[in-house]
Amino acid sequence: MLISGSGTNLQAIIDACHNDAVPAQVVAVISNQPQAYGLNRARAASIPAQVLDHRDFAGRAAFDAELQNLVDTFVPDLVVLAGFMRILGENFATHYTGRMLNIHPSLLPDYPGLDTHARALADGKDQHGATVHFVTPELDAGPIIIQGRVPVLANDTAETLAQRVHEVEYRIYPQAIAWFAHGRLVLQHGQARLDGRPITP
Ligand code: GRF
Repeated sequence: MLISGSGTNLQAIIDACHNDAVPAQVVAVISNQPQAYGLNRARAASIPAQVLDHRDFAGRAAFDAELQNLVDTFVPDLVVLAGFMRILGENFATHYTGRMLNIHPSLLPDYPGLDTHARALADGKDQHGATVHFVTPELDAGPIIIQGRVPVLANDTAETLAQRVHEVEYRIYPQAIAWFAHGRLVLQHGQARLDGRPITP
């Protein structure tokens, strides 16, 4: 799993793997941020945790190449981005086509990019949520696997809304990973399929 921050999604996935909700194992956690709290969560669960600091590299391509080398040493079946705050280049995305997932805190295609909760509030949306999708070279635009919706409440701030969205993230990300681990979820001809049927969110 690739992270940059607190790793609450990582924790939800570790827990789901431990209680057999997800028939998988987190084989490694890699962070581009040395201070990411998620590294502690990984170590507490006896999962190898490593830092690859993007600031140690001359450019995006050099960082991506080294990250790919590092990830491949663990021979993962699936690469899971969970709050990984670096844009990955086309080569990296292509290398892991069909075996890399991301979670984004909005109902994509609404609000790709940053500050999704504040933007949804500013637009007066009455619903918001999170999306798990296959990663493609285009940012936050890969085929959608599952979305979780929450209501936007009258007195919400970006923080309260983010908290409510997080709760659905902890449900939908383990679900998507479980589907993949069971061989039920695949990317075929650029389309996400569950049990052979195209997923239409
Ligand atoms: C989540 O909101 C996720 O949707 C986004 O980054 C945040 C990561 O939070 N991609 P955490 O590190 O899992 O707590």
